[in-house]
Amino acid sequence: MNVIGQINESFFAESGFDVNQIRAEFPILSTQVNGKPLVYLDNGASSQKPVAVIEAMDAYWRETNANVHRGVHYLSQKATREFDASREKVRAFLGAKHSHEIIFTAGCTASINLVAESWGRSNLKAGDEILISTMEHHSNIVPWQLIAQRVGATVLPIPISDAGEIDLDAYRGMLSERTKMVAIIHVSNSLGTINPVKEIIQMAHAAGAKVLVDGAQAGPHIRINVQDLNADFYTLSCHKMYAPTGIGVLYGKETLLNEMPPYQGGGDMIHTVSFEKTTYAPLPYKFEAGTPNIAGVIGLGSTIDYLAALGSRFENREVADISEALDAAFRTLEAREKELTDYGMQVLGDIDGVRLTGTAPNKVGILAFTLDCAHPHDVGTVLDNIGIAVRTGHHCCMPLMKRLGVPATTRASLAMYNTHEEIDELVVGIKKVKELFG
Ligand code: ALA
Repeated sequence: MNVIGQINESFFAESGFDVNQIRAEFPILSTQVNGKPLVYLDNGASSQKPVAVIEAMDAYWRETNANVHRGVHYLSQKATREFDASREKVRAFLGAKHSHEIIFTAGCTASINLVAESWGRSNLKAGDEILISTMEHHSNIVPWQLIAQRVGATVLPIPISDAGEIDLDAYRGMLSERTKMVAIIHVSNSLGTINPVKEIIQMAHAAGAKVLVDGAQAGPHIRINVQDLNADFYTLSCHKMYAPTGIGVLYGKETLLNEMPPYQGGGDMIHTVSFEKTTYAPLPYKFEAGTPNIAGVIGLGSTIDYLAALGSRFENREVADISEALDAAFRTLEAREKELTDYGMQVLGDIDGVRLTGTAPNKVGILAFTLDCAHPHDVGTVLDNIGIAVRTGHHCCMPLMKRLGVPATTRASLAMYNTHEEIDELVVGIKKVKELFG
């Protein structure tokens, strides 16, 4: 074990964190790929699901399936109760004040499009500016470009340093009375940087701008509290945080969501409909037109239950309050991930010819790099041959790749079930690539 690991071993032993126990709870991790045990290091693209979530989804289809908010019959009532309970769990997960500030969407991208379109249409005009950062993924660039083009506003990128940190001085200089929205990623999917969003929000608010924080990559890695951050909007991509695909979250402050016009029309979002005048349902339903992803929402609720149960396990006691249990879970998960990330950055950085991208000290487990002798797609293919799953390419961040001066990177992205041994396997794989292409 490495030096960094030794420092924290006693902490993890005391905390009740047992990576083998966690691995056993994710059935897919025992899969073989190309005759080798799977080493899954593509969690930034999508994480694996614990058996508790798989079983909750299965139970939903077998025992509950019916539409919500529409029936007096038993199954519809049961589905509605479970659906509504998930909203309260997400409220606790995000530290929001009210559960009606939680809107279920199809994903993080859908959440950002909702805000860009609904808030943007009623708040942006020609000459206004929307600030984003150079490290945004396309989901937090293109929706703003679309609304900006429509109203005559401008989208401006905040520069970043070579290590992958937002240039706060440049940001300060860009804020003005023209700034109406700052849309910023909490944790970079390509670099791992944890951005100082609380400070970014304070500065934006002082300039009179609203802030949307894109939490797509923050959800699985760090404890979030939207009230502490004072975020106006916050978005989650749930399949990256051990929940099913096809489900996302938009948090918005009650006053802002109340002022915004509906985004899509349809069933469930109305109060009354007539050919003369239609009125809309209160929050959160105003933004949830049509039959929602009921199974996904219930699956998300079971994911939050799973994370909260980890909190009790790590504390070696029953933590009944869900917020406290999530605090406890993330205290340990964040410490463990930091230790594993430091180890990964150290051993990858020690390989001749590897250039690490994303070297900010405050970062999550994104180990991204280029190799001087091989294109990332070749690296990914060789790694796949020995059972290692990574993502290669521009990671939906073409402007960031341009800033870094590379066409693409190879990205290993960590989750709670990854191990030092898997990082060692990655090192072996990279050395194999060097032998083949060097
Ligand atoms: N944005 C996701 C990723 O980083 C898809 O891979």
